[in-house]
This record gives sequence, C-alpha cells and structure tokens, in this order.
Amino acid sequence: MSDEAKKGSNGPGDASGRDLWGGHFARGPAPLMQQINASIGFDKRLHAHDIEGSMAHARMLAAQGIVTGADRDAILGGLRQVAEEIAHGRFVFKVEMEDIHLNVEARLTELIGEPGRRLHTGRSRNDQVATDFRLWVRDAVDRSLALLRRLMAALVAQADRYASDVMPGFTHLQAAQPVTFGHHLLCYVEMLARDHGRMTDARRRMNECPLGAAALAGTSFPIDRQATASELGFERPAANSIDAVSDRDFALDYLASASICAVHLSRLAEELVLWSTQQFGFVRMSEDFTSGSSIMPQKRNPDAAELIRGKSGRICGHLQALLVTLKGLPLAYSKDMQEDKEGVFDAADTLELCLAACAEMVASMKVDTARMEEAAGHGFTTATDLADWLVRVKGAAFRDAHGVAARAVRLAEERASGLEDLGLDELRAIDPRIDEGVFEVLGVRNSVASRTSEGGTAPVRVREQVARWRGLLEELDR
Ligand code: ARG
Repeated sequence: MSDEAKKGSNGPGDASGRDLWGGHFARGPAPLMQQINASIGFDKRLHAHDIEGSMAHARMLAAQGIVTGADRDAILGGLRQVAEEIAHGRFVFKVEMEDIHLNVEARLTELIGEPGRRLHTGRSRNDQVATDFRLWVRDAVDRSLALLRRLMAALVAQADRYASDVMPGFTHLQAAQPVTFGHHLLCYVEMLARDHGRMTDARRRMNECPLGAAALAGTSFPIDRQATASELGFERPAANSIDAVSDRDFALDYLASASICAVHLSRLAEELVLWSTQQFGFVRMSEDFTSGSSIMPQKRNPDAAELIRGKSGRICGHLQALLVTLKGLPLAYSKDMQEDKEGVFDAADTLELCLAACAEMVASMKVDTARMEEAAGHGFTTATDLADWLVRVKGAAFRDAHGVAARAVRLAEERASGLEDLGLDELRAIDPRIDEGVFEVLGVRNSVASRTSEGGTAPVRVREQVARWRGLLEELDR
C-alpha cells in the first residue's frame, strides 16, 4: 500500500473534492479551474465501461494476490450497486469529482469503505480512461456496422425491385447514358461496404488493452495484463505502456471511417433531394421523412435527406478537431486529450441517426419508373450506342463512328426530336452504312440491355449483383 493510502487521505473519498490529491494541495480548485477541468458533464457516458474495466481490474488484482478475495468481493458488490444507482437515475454525478473515474471510485468508497480505496492499485486514470474510451468506441463501431448492414440491405432490396428500370445516368449532371436504377442504387452498396470494411479494420486495430500501462511507465505490482485484456474482450494488451496512454489514433480511425461514411450518406441524400424535385420527379419520399411548408401548400420538403447531407459537416469537423488537438502533444498523457470525447460522442450519435434514417427513407421511397424512363431518353443518351453499333456491326473506327453519331445528334437537335425519331434516309445521308438494325440500339431499354460487360448496367448484371450482395450480407450478419 502506498504511504498516501495508509494515511487514508488519498483517493476521492471526500465529497468536497478537496481531498483528491492526498493533502498535497492546501485549497480546493478555483471555480473557473473546476469549470475548465471537469469532464463529468460529458464523460459520464463512459460509466458502464468504467465499471466494467474496474471489475476486470479488481478480479485480476485478487487473482494475483495484490488484494484479498474479500476486498475483491466487496469491490465487485459495490460496483454493482453503483451501476444500479446510475441505471435508476439515483447516482449523483459531482463536478467536484472531476470525471467519471473519480465519481465512480468516490461513490464506491462511500459505499464499501476501505476496500474501495484499494481499487486504484497498479493503475492510473491515464490507462483507465484510455481503456474506457476504447471500449466505448469499439461499441460505437459495432453499432455502426449493424446499421450499415441494415442500410445496405434496404438498398439491395430496392435494387432488386428496380433491376431493369431505366433512368438517365449523368456525368457533369448532364444526361450521359441510360442506366438501370438498380445499378445506380448498388453503387451506394459498394461504397457502404467499403465503409463497413474501414470500420472493421479500425475495430481490429483498436482492440488492444491499455489497462496496466498505469500512468505511463507500467507498474511494479505483479499484474496480469493478459487476464484483464481477455476479460474485456481485447485481442491482447497494448505492447508499449507509453503508447497505450498517449495515442488516440483509435478514435481518429473511427472518426475517419465515420467521416467517409457520412460523405457517402450525404451524396445519397443529395440525390434523393434532387430526384424528389418537381423538375426530376423520379422519387417521392415518404411523408414520414418530409415536411410541408407553412405558407406554400404544395410543398413537400425532403428535410430528413437535407439534414443527412448537412450533418456530414459535423462529423468531418470532429475528425479535424481531434487531429489538431493531438498534433504537437509530447508523450505521454496530456490533459488536452480529455478533448477527445465530445466530438466522438457527437459523431457517433449523428452517424447512427443518419444511417438509421437513411435506411428507412430508402425503404419507403416511391419511384416513378415511367417518368425516369422518359427522362432516360432525353439528351440523346443513346448517341454512344449509335457509335458503338457502327463499330460493332459495320466495322467503323470508333473515332469516325463518334463523328457520325455527333452529326446525328445535331440533326435531331434541329428537328427537336429524339435520335430514334430520325428517319433511316436521314441517318443514311450522314453515313450510308447505317441500316434499320440501328433502331434496335437507339431505345433506352436496348441500350441498357446491351451493357453486359462485367460491372455494367444491364439488368442481368444487376440481378447477379443483387444475389451476390444478399449472400454477402447474410455472411456479415452472422
Ligand atoms: N478525465 C481525464 C481524461 O478524460 C482522465 C485522465 C486524467 N488523467 C490525469 N492524469 N489527470 O483524459
């Protein structure tokens, strides 16, 4: 036992908080110091993980003979009672106790006395907070992974439904070539699957246990780090005690994955906004995710999609904030690192809300397939098909065929008609090699049906991909 503990003055035993530092300080903190220093206002969200970590630590201390079995039982019983008080809203979080770690320990000691004062043996708040926060972020990753799979499943279901329905595909937001709506939706599934992969990688990397690093140098007590690591579900103890308490790259990994995912959601949301305009009219969002206007009775505003687009800024901002906070920090722990939590909490809340809302919005949207198909033919979107046909069927060189198709587009423009409305004689006047076979490729359905290359938009390819994703999602859900 340390000298301070023997004196009975160490540890957060005194409700005023004056006694926190074992009598080393003559007075309590200035009110402004308390305000700038205390993190309990937000890190109370770590309570379950803090208690879980303390339980693992107490069991290990007893198994190693560092505390007695009786002390361990008292500590475990006390921690269970603390957990219950928190669960029932009976726990009083005290700002004088600075943070969640000291709040829990103080209450534990109030409840069980002396054994509570032994819990902090062989650890520090530095390894404690690093452990708690990793556990919290790991749970956040798991929640995001499940929500990502739910959104992917919603997109796959819609892609299946609209595997052969045609829409205009865009580049530069100019009608480019017809694509199938199912193919377009599966594009988002690909992006989200990479987000899922990034989150999974982040989880694997963060799954090392800081507990036992103590303040920064390790400890002289004969602790068993394997035991606490495995009890807390970590792959292994972190190998370097300084690294264990000084880096927060696990939080950066999470925020980076969350930011990229949020940007993907924002692009999907933007398309939903665009598609549900009167001008596009491809999609009608469910009433559940839109709002009316207080003065314009015809309005149906896609607020939820706009907010998903808007909230992506917050998530990306939190990544930036933590990067800048960590930059230039000397090893090991500095109090700056207390700033790691609020951004991560908010990013997680925001991302989870957006993922859940997005899944329901996608599942409940109504699609106007006739209108989409009509739009797919506007803007001479099958001009490439005309050029490809000349190459494939008539042996023209692509650059020449491209010129022929461009002249056909100019003519159709003059006529204010579609390419498929031009007469055969008109087309033959541009290039005599053209025959009536060309009309087979000038319609949008024929266009998409012909794009059967691997990864292409043809309905047969889309159906293959739907089947592939169904299988992969089932595997991921296991
Ligand atoms: N509340 C602190 C944090 O969030 C806990 C660690 C404090 N450690 C210290 N040496 N003061 O980082």
